[in-house]
Amino acid sequence: MKNTVSTLLKQKQSGDKITMLTAYDYTTAKIMDECGVNAILIGDSLGMVMLGYENTLPVTMEDMIHHTAAVSRGAVNTFIVADMPFMSYQVSVQEAVINAGRLVKEGGANAVKLEGGAEVCEQIKAIVNASIPVVAHLGLTPQSVNAFGGFKVQGKSYDKAKKLIEDALLIQEAGACAVVLEGIPAKLAEIITKKLFIPTIGIGAGNGCDGQVLVYQDMLGLTTGHTAKFVKRFAEAGELMRKGINDYISETKSGAFPAEEHTYAVDEEIISQLLKECE
Ligand code: KIV
Repeated sequence: MKNTVSTLLKQKQSGDKITMLTAYDYTTAKIMDECGVNAILIGDSLGMVMLGYENTLPVTMEDMIHHTAAVSRGAVNTFIVADMPFMSYQVSVQEAVINAGRLVKEGGANAVKLEGGAEVCEQIKAIVNASIPVVAHLGLTPQSVNAFGGFKVQGKSYDKAKKLIEDALLIQEAGACAVVLEGIPAKLAEIITKKLFIPTIGIGAGNGCDGQVLVYQDMLGLTTGHTAKFVKRFAEAGELMRKGINDYISETKSGAFPAEEHTYAVDEEIISQLLKECE
């Protein structure tokens, strides 16, 4: 069954936790879809995990459309959310609607996600008026990395926590269908979740949210180096890949690969004839 804005809302109402993962390509999206994940986010995190940038800021609309279209071709039942990249919605409401439209028309997204609270409510209203569902994103919003002075947990002081609650209510009023809460204290996320009728999807925001989202390279153990506190590595797929690649190298070098079962046969008479002609 296709996951939609309505099914996600029903999940919140019934207490059935929403599962969301990032994906950026056809093959991964297809596996996630077959596993029954509720929603896929084509996050602008693709700038870091797929393209090797230091942060999400260089990601373009073309990058997002290219990866969203690949995911859409692989995912049949999941709700597909595409991130609006940095500077694709901040400059004007008109540009925001045009770019959201491109993610739906050219990428096949079911919804778009943008970062911010009160300051993006006009954009949310206009995009929703164009019949495009919007997922909001509050807390540690990575596109504000320079303004925050790094990837830092948000909402730890009374004033900042209060502002996040106000922002959550404003984006809901503007028409957002869900909100990602990233890098905020678990108890604050719980308060926001209780106050909203739309689903909250947490990442580094505790288990009081209506659902969770993780970057798949993190949760499958494909990333190396520093891992954020909120990441759980559900598998060590990086180790599996390394083993497979190392086995391929040694078997190719030793000649063990390809073996008989990996080769195509031909009539011996044809080979004898060819050999004679070569003499
Ligand atoms: O870009 C992304 O992957 C995200 C998630 C971290 C929520 O926005």
